[in-house]
Amino acid sequence: MLQRISQTIFQGVSWQHPVIAAGLRVLDPIDKLVRVAGGRGAYPPMSIRVRSNGLRKQFNGKRFESFGKILAEELANRSGLKRDSKVLEIGCGCGRFAFGLSDVLEDGAYTGIDIDAPSIVSAKNNTFLQRKKFRFEHLDVHNAEYNPTGKVSANEYRFEFDDNSFDVVFLVSVFTHMLPDDVRNYIKEIGRMLKPGGHLMFTTFVMDSGTKFDGNDFVYGTGPYRSSHPEMHEICVGYYIDFLDECLREARLVRTDDPVYSTKGRSVPDAQTTEFGQDLIIARKG
Ligand SMILES: C[S@@+](CC[C@H](N)C(=O)[O-])C[C@H]1O[C@@H](n2cnc3c(N)ncnc32)[C@H](O)[C@@H]1O
Repeated sequence: MLQRISQTIFQGVSWQHPVIAAGLRVLDPIDKLVRVAGGRGAYPPMSIRVRSNGLRKQFNGKRFESFGKILAEELANRSGLKRDSKVLEIGCGCGRFAFGLSDVLEDGAYTGIDIDAPSIVSAKNNTFLQRKKFRFEHLDVHNAEYNPTGKVSANEYRFEFDDNSFDVVFLVSVFTHMLPDDVRNYIKEIGRMLKPGGHLMFTTFVMDSGTKFDGNDFVYGTGPYRSSHPEMHEICVGYYIDFLDECLREARLVRTDDPVYSTKGRSVPDAQTTEFGQDLIIARKG
């Protein structure tokens, strides 16, 4: 409901609307009381969670928690994630999946990076994640929606990590906010940073199976992508699989399986499915 009101009166992202932002700060202490009572007190405040997860069903942290667990299971089942894996999450927001992985990565290492400074400050200052020794870093990369003043373009950014240094790299709902040249460069960089045999998992909306997804029509844009937003395409982007395969090939990665389709989006006959809200692509470095 809040989301709909905001979208009609404001062209950008719902949580950026000043009235919604003020309302969220009023709700923060009530959300915290409910979370603490339900054993979810470690999660970030609602006004921070909505920056990466939207307004829908965010109150009380239950959805934040359940999606974190679903993704941890998907990574363990499909990307070979183990308790000692070295993991990089690009576009980690305030740490939804860092919390989800905190039980799994007992002897491993997690690094989360994001361009949204308040989300990274929240994750860095979170005492639960500090105890787990999970690391978070801010990147000043430009994105029209999340970091419009960012200094470096995503299509030429070089990550400050060594070659062959991660077992698993994953991105959730990040390429859905990036345009083709940016996605191509990020996948190339991921190919460089993954160890041989390491896995990449990311979410997207696969346009080959229909440009309608969960009530959104992806009708704007041309070539390898479509967007559901007429002006700021980065607000919601889906990709055709040929383009993604081309990027993977250039990065010397190979898709390990057919796309895994979200049960929330639309029905794709005979496909593998995920409860996650977007389609999944998994690839491996040969
Ligand atoms: C919808 S949120 C998802 C956050 C997190 N992955 C999750 O699912 O909880 C998208 C995130 O991608 C980040 N992002 C957008 N463009 C990025 C880029 N070029 N590099 C790294 N992060 C980016 C945003 O700052 C935002 O935190």
